[in-house]
Amino acid sequence: MDSLLIKGGVPLHGEVAVSGSKNAVLPILAATLLTAEPCRIRRVPHLSDVRFMGRILESLGAKVSADGDGLRVQAKKIQGVGNYSLIRKMRGSVCILGPLLGRLREATVALPGGCVIGARPINLHLKGFAALGAKVTIEGGYVHTAARRLRGAELFLGGRAGSTVLGTANVMMAAALAEGVTIIESAACEPEIVDLAHFLSAMGAQITGAGSPILTITGVPELHGAEHEVIPDRIEAATYAIAAAATGGEVTITGARADHLHAVLDKLGEAGVQVRRQGTALRVRRGARLRPVDVTTLPYAGFPTDVQAQMMALMTLAPGISILTERIFESRFMHVSELARLGADIEIEGPSAIVKGGRPLSGAEVMASDLRASAALVVAGLAARGTTRVSRVYHIDRGYENLDGKLRKLGARIQRVSES
Ligand code: EPU
Repeated sequence: MDSLLIKGGVPLHGEVAVSGSKNAVLPILAATLLTAEPCRIRRVPHLSDVRFMGRILESLGAKVSADGDGLRVQAKKIQGVGNYSLIRKMRGSVCILGPLLGRLREATVALPGGCVIGARPINLHLKGFAALGAKVTIEGGYVHTAARRLRGAELFLGGRAGSTVLGTANVMMAAALAEGVTIIESAACEPEIVDLAHFLSAMGAQITGAGSPILTITGVPELHGAEHEVIPDRIEAATYAIAAAATGGEVTITGARADHLHAVLDKLGEAGVQVRRQGTALRVRRGARLRPVDVTTLPYAGFPTDVQAQMMALMTLAPGISILTERIFESRFMHVSELARLGADIEIEGPSAIVKGGRPLSGAEVMASDLRASAALVVAGLAARGTTRVSRVYHIDRGYENLDGKLRKLGARIQRVSES
C-alpha cells in the first residue's frame, strides 16, 4: 500500500489539465453492453475504478482494449451474471444492471453493499426496473431481475435525499431498449447523466430532457456502436481550484467546464477566492483573506457532496465559523477526525460540521477513508506546515488521475512512498 508524503506550505503555481470524468465514464462504459457493435470511448481517465469496470465488462464477455486516449469495447456476446468478487470492489458497478436487463432481459448481479460514506441502497434502481415490468428478487446477496417484455412506463425516481444519479442512469439504459415511452420524474440532472444520454443518443437511443428532472425515453428495438468523448471531471477541477486557494497560489485549470461548476465557483467567490474564466480554462487565485462560508450539499445544480470534504479542508483555513451541511450521504464526515489530527477545530452536529477556522494546520500522519476524504486530506496537507503522510492512497487512485504527478507539476512537494 502506498502513501503520500507532503511537505506543506508551498503555494501551487502553474497549469493543470483536467482528466475525463470518473462518474461519467463508469455508466458510459456500462452502456457499451447495450450493443453487440464496437464502441469507442475517448478521454477515459487512468483510474483504478475504470480498470475495475473494464474487468467487469470482460467478465461478462466483452472485449476491452486500449485505443488512443480511451477504450474500445465490444460486447458481442455477453452473459448477464456479475459476480460478487468484482462488484464488491466498486459500488459504481451497480450500473451494469440496467444495460444487462435492457439487452438480455435478465440480469443477476451481486449487491454492492454499503461503504464508509453511508448505506447506499439501490431500492430506487429496483423500483425503476419493476415499473418497466421486470420482476426483481434478492437472494443470497444477489439481485436478480428479469422481464419477458420490458414496457415503457411513467415513474417517479425521487428518494429521501432527492434524485439518484446511478439509479437514473440504470433506468434510462434499460428503458432505451424497452417497448414504448418511459418518463422518469425526479430524474438526476447531473452533467454525468447528460453525458450518458449523449452517448446513448449516439448509439441510436431516443432521449429528451436530459439535464432536467423529467427524462423521456422512447424505446428502440436495438442500439448500434458509437464513439463518444467523456466530459471533463468537474470534481477533479474543483479539487485543484480548492488546493490552489488553500495554498495561497495561483493555478490555471485547463479543459474544465465552468458551466458544470457554478455552485462551487460561487462558494469559492464568497470565500474570497478569485476565479476568472478564460475560455475553457479557469484561473484561480486566493484573494487577500479567506472568508468562512456555509455550504449545504444538494443534488445538481446544488453544491456537490463530492466536494464537501475538500471545501471543509479549505474552511479550516478561513478565520471564523463555517457550517457544512451534508444532505446526500449521512455519514460522509470521515475526514473530520483526520483533519483534526492536522489541528483543525471541527464539531459535528447532526448533518452539519461546524468548522472554527483560522488556526494554522500542522503536518501529521493521517489515513484516507474514502476518495473525497482523501482529497481533502491532501488539500489540508498541502496547506499545513511540516510533513503530512496520507496513507491508503488507493482510495485516491480510484478517482484522481495522477494526483501526485499533477500536484508536483504545480510545485507541490509531494511524493508517493511504498508502505512496508
Ligand atoms: N439512494 C437511495 N436509494 C437508491 C439510490 C440512492 O435512497 O436506490 C440515496 C443514497 O443513499 C443517497 C442519495 O440517494 O442518499 C443519492 O445517491 P445517488 O444514487 O445519487 O449516488 P450514486 O449514484 O450511488 C453517484 C456518484 C457518487 C456521488 C453521488 C451523488 C458514481 C459512480 N458515484 O453515486 O460519487 O457522490 O452520485 O452525487 O457516479 C465519488 O465520486 O466520490 C462518489 C461517491
